Amino acid sequence: MTRTLSPGALMAAETAEQPAVWRRQLAEAGPGGASGLAEAAELVRRRAPRFVLLVARGTSDHAALYAKYLVEITLGLPVGLVSPSTYTAYGRRPDLRDVLMVAVSQSGGSPDLLRTLEVAKAGGALTVSVTNNAASALATTADAHVDVLAGPERAVAATKSYTAQLLALNLLFGGAGADALPDLGDAILARDAELAALAVRYRFAERMITTGRGYSYPTAREAALKLMETAYVSAQAFSGADLLHGPLALVEPRVPVLAVTSAGAGGQAFAPVLDALAERRADVVTVGSAARDVVLPETAEPLAPLLEILPFQLLARHVAVDRGGDPDAPRGLRKVTETL
Ligand code: F6R
Repeated sequence: MTRTLSPGALMAAETAEQPAVWRRQLAEAGPGGASGLAEAAELVRRRAPRFVLLVARGTSDHAALYAKYLVEITLGLPVGLVSPSTYTAYGRRPDLRDVLMVAVSQSGGSPDLLRTLEVAKAGGALTVSVTNNAASALATTADAHVDVLAGPERAVAATKSYTAQLLALNLLFGGAGADALPDLGDAILARDAELAALAVRYRFAERMITTGRGYSYPTAREAALKLMETAYVSAQAFSGADLLHGPLALVEPRVPVLAVTSAGAGGQAFAPVLDALAERRADVVTVGSAARDVVLPETAEPLAPLLEILPFQLLARHVAVDRGGDPDAPRGLRKVTETL
């Protein structure tokens, strides 16, 4: 018997599942654990790369951007985000000895990522894949694989696979102190009614701006993508620094701003951006541990992105449903699968 689900039911269930996924990941992160994390991290330590390249698409690209901040800030290694077309369309075959390439993909089936990883491997790079499918081509081709253990994700919009990627990348690069996260995540997700009330404000919004700085910039990017793909709001994300260098001119009362602001160095550097927005009398809602509006619990700065994105996932789903859409099946989109 087929059962018709209400709009956004899958996305709601997968959003709610996130703290349980994090608990599973933390339980399986040690040697011999189902994620393969300890073995991948050990391989990376042994090879001691001098440069890290990350490759991903869409939501996974935002997890890669998070890893760029994490590795640059905590390990001091230079990091680049690779455009697959450099290797696929333009056919470059660079010498990548001393380089670690990490491919991040929910499905493990994005063909251009696979091709990029193959070229990198042939060029001497150590390759690690971070996927939600241990049987995928990306997982089996890389020198080491990290399974994010998110379980099947059926809604087109990625939610639980995103934060599972963030946690896997955090642990891969030596992060610690994540044990308190699942309980904090549950507490935020219990505030669904607060985000439903906020969503009403954006029912007729055509354009929006999201912004954040440092570790919060990937959150702003992912928040914009969720709003675009589920609620069809034309949402543009800018790093706080970039917003001040031109795009600020877009800000006016009909273009609401969602600003991610968390405690720590990134949040402090973001203060002038909030001042500039206030000066323009922008319609701003702040979200994060240093926010005035949607106030989140404080956590170590590299872990904050896991919590920061949760209110935006709830918000995007409510805006989408309020506007008559079904965020589980956005128009014209389908999920990447291993077979693509
Ligand atoms: C957005 C979303 C997509 C995917 C992208 C890459 O919610 O799901 O942007 O992130 O298509 O897919 P994977 O991660 O399977 O390579």
